[in-house]
Amino acid sequence: MIAAARFVICGIFLAPAALPLQAVALLQSPVAAQQRDFTIDPDYSCVTCHTEKRRAFLLGTHSERGIRCHDCHGGDPRAFEQATAHTGPEYVGPLDKMATVQLCSSCHSDPDQMRQYGLPVGELAEYRTSRHGQLLLEQRDYNAPTCTDCHDAHTILPPNDARSNVYPTNIAHTCARCHEDAAMMGEYGLGTDQIETHRASAHGVALYQRQDFAAPTCVSCHGSHAALPPAVTQIADVCGHCHVLVRRAFYAGPHGRAAQSRDLPGCTACHSNHGTERIQPNRIAATCTECHEADSPAALAGLEIQEDATRTTVELHAAEEAIQALARAGRTVADVKLRYQTAVTAYNQISQAQHSLDLEVLEDLSRQVSSISRDVRAAEEVAAEHRWEHGLALIPIWFLALSATVLAWFKLRALRRERR
Ligand code: HEC
Ligand code: HEC
Ligand code: HEC
Ligand code: HEC
Ligand code: HEC
Ligand code: HEC
Ligand code: HEC
Ligand code: HEC
Ligand code: HEC
Repeated sequence: MIAAARFVICGIFLAPAALPLQAVALLQSPVAAQQRDFTIDPDYSCVTCHTEKRRAFLLGTHSERGIRCHDCHGGDPRAFEQATAHTGPEYVGPLDKMATVQLCSSCHSDPDQMRQYGLPVGELAEYRTSRHGQLLLEQRDYNAPTCTDCHDAHTILPPNDARSNVYPTNIAHTCARCHEDAAMMGEYGLGTDQIETHRASAHGVALYQRQDFAAPTCVSCHGSHAALPPAVTQIADVCGHCHVLVRRAFYAGPHGRAAQSRDLPGCTACHSNHGTERIQPNRIAATCTECHEADSPAALAGLEIQEDATRTTVELHAAEEAIQALARAGRTVADVKLRYQTAVTAYNQISQAQHSLDLEVLEDLSRQVSSISRDVRAAEEVAAEHRWEHGLALIPIWFLALSATVLAWFKLRALRRERR
């Protein structure tokens, strides 16, 4: 069975390298997991000399599963001389990038070993399809990342551990080691601004400043093991994976059709891939004329969308201020707030629905925003008038109070004189 497993694993590669037998056999052996903690095992030689590696390794998840040094490096852990320890059975010594892919995959591509942990086994298959995998496995280009460039070799942690290199907020840093290296990226004609640009984008702000893990990191758009830039026809689906309603509207309109026939680069026709930002209402028409003639029907549609977006933005803002004024005047605002929420929903639907370029739908939605905003402002005006009338009604009362004081004063003076 072990032999068969090795045959399969080695078959994955054109040039099979020696792989420690234990890496394959380990998880099939019930004894393995019950081995004593090798930090206190005085008979395990590797860690008596390699104390730093022991420390790093103990922090990682593999050590909890009874995996040990010799499972990856081979050697003889019962021998205390460097020479004999390193020449033991199947000693591999340092692993290069190719051998590392093979080593990690010997367990992680094997469903029989991964099933019990509920872990996927597709990493190697995906990696092969990636630019990284092609570079390393086909072109033997050692600039490409191997498994340990992203996961470390010894302190390997699951992606949901905040200390892990592949935790959402750490991923960009892991990629930056190479993708911010201008000398390395220059060899491939690639820029090095992706990480900084992404950090400043709406996505980066949501991810890093608001810890909103629904926002994409590098691998949400590129894939972690299958890292490639999405092809033109895929971009709308990559973004639409999260922006579901926008995607639906986009595909319902002429731009969606143009994207499918590669005449338009999907969402990135108007939004930046790494510097993704909301297009401000006053910039909409200018976005359209980047591709359409200034007086074409398309450009006119753009002007109409801009006009709708600008007006509803102002109206929504005015409604918000009216509600604040009502609240300051001590009115109950629960009802108007509820209506305001409806307007916000319609407002958000406008920016999503306009991706279909269907102006009738937009008109309906913007009419909803306008009418609610008008109602809320009217309620505030009525309240303000009441406040003014209230103030007027108080004048006679003030007059009476003043007269009473004056009268009292005269009376008091008269009394004092009398007494004298
Ligand atoms: C007596 C101390 C000692 C023992 C025991 C020992 N090593 Fe080493 N090991 C060393 C030293 C010293 C070096 C650095 C030698 C060098 O750079 O050539 C080293 C280097 C290595 C390297 C890197 C090789 C390279 O060429 O860069 C690996 C991998 C390694 N040891 C694994 C192991 C494993 C696995 C075991 C247990 C089976 C083990 N060692 C046992 C002392 C030891
Ligand atoms: C899951 C497999 C795995 C296990 C287990 C493992 N290593 Fe390694 N180790 C590697 C790989 C892969 C490299 C190659 C360097 C890299 O990719 O960063 C490496 C590199 C090394 C090196 C030389 C390179 C360097 O960073 O100096 C030493 C020494 C070493 N390991 C010692 C150990 C010791 C000691 C243990 C046990 C505490 C251990 N390793 C456990 C995979 C492993
Ligand atoms: C001997 C088999 C074996 C080898 C070789 C091996 N792993 Fe693992 N790996 C495991 C097991 C078992 C787990 C633990 C699963 C668990 O605890 O949920 C694991 C866990 C992981 C995890 C955490 C997964 C998670 O979500 O919990 C990562 C990442 C990982 N390994 C990467 C690597 C890399 C990179 C290498 C190569 C340097 C490697 N592994 C080599 C067996 C192995
Ligand atoms: C370019 C960086 C990169 C490389 C190279 C890479 N990984 Fe990963 N890996 C990640 C990221 C990022 C994640 C986190 C999961 C995610 O967000 O998709 C991950 C997750 C994992 C997991 C955990 C899966 C899970 O769902 O819990 C395992 C296991 C793993 N990788 C193994 C490997 C193996 C084996 C290799 C080598 C064939 C490898 N990785 C190469 C970046 C990388
Ligand atoms: C060890 C270095 C290294 C690391 C780490 C690394 N990359 Fe790469 N990456 C490269 C190299 C080298 C290329 C090859 C460029 C080429 O051939 O076009 C590349 C290419 C790419 C490409 C394809 C670009 C293109 O147009 O060809 C993408 C996308 C990519 N990397 C994303 C990532 C992501 C995301 C991460 C982090 C999870 C990451 N990389 C981590 C070295 C690295
Ligand atoms: C919101 C989705 C998204 C996110 C997040 C993202 N990318 Fe990209 N990236 C793309 C798209 C789409 C392209 C292709 C652009 C094109 O072909 O016009 C691309 C292209 C690339 C390229 C190819 C060269 C280039 O600059 O065009 C690299 C390298 C790259 N991205 C790396 C990264 C890294 C590193 C991160 C994390 C900091 C990241 N990307 C985050 C969508 C994204
Ligand atoms: C992993 C999910 C995910 C992916 C993939 C994704 N986004 Fe986002 N996007 C978000 C989240 C979450 C926000 C933040 C929403 C917020 O500000 O509350 C966001 C914000 C935005 C914004 C700003 C919206 C605003 O109101 O400020 C735009 C524009 C945007 N994304 C476009 C894109 C484009 C274009 C792509 C593809 C290149 C893309 N997104 C890919 C999740 C995603
Ligand atoms: C990156 C270039 C690009 C940008 C920017 C762009 N379009 Fe288009 N648009 C196209 C392409 C390509 C088509 C499909 C060509 C065709 O069917 O004739 C198209 C088709 C259309 C159509 C239907 C066919 C027509 O020509 O009347 C309308 C309407 C339209 N666009 C409106 C807009 C509006 C509104 C904006 C701004 C919000 C905009 N476009 C921005 C490239 C663009
Ligand atoms: C023709 C140009 C154009 C294309 C193509 C385009 N957008 Fe937009 N997008 C806009 C404009 C203009 C706005 C601002 C509308 C507004 O403020 O009302 C916007 C707004 C957005 C918003 C913010 C709305 C919200 O929900 O808060 C998101 C998210 C978004 N776009 C994602 C995408 C995605 C995903 C794609 C691809 C499926 C895409 N866009 C394609 C022009 C475009």
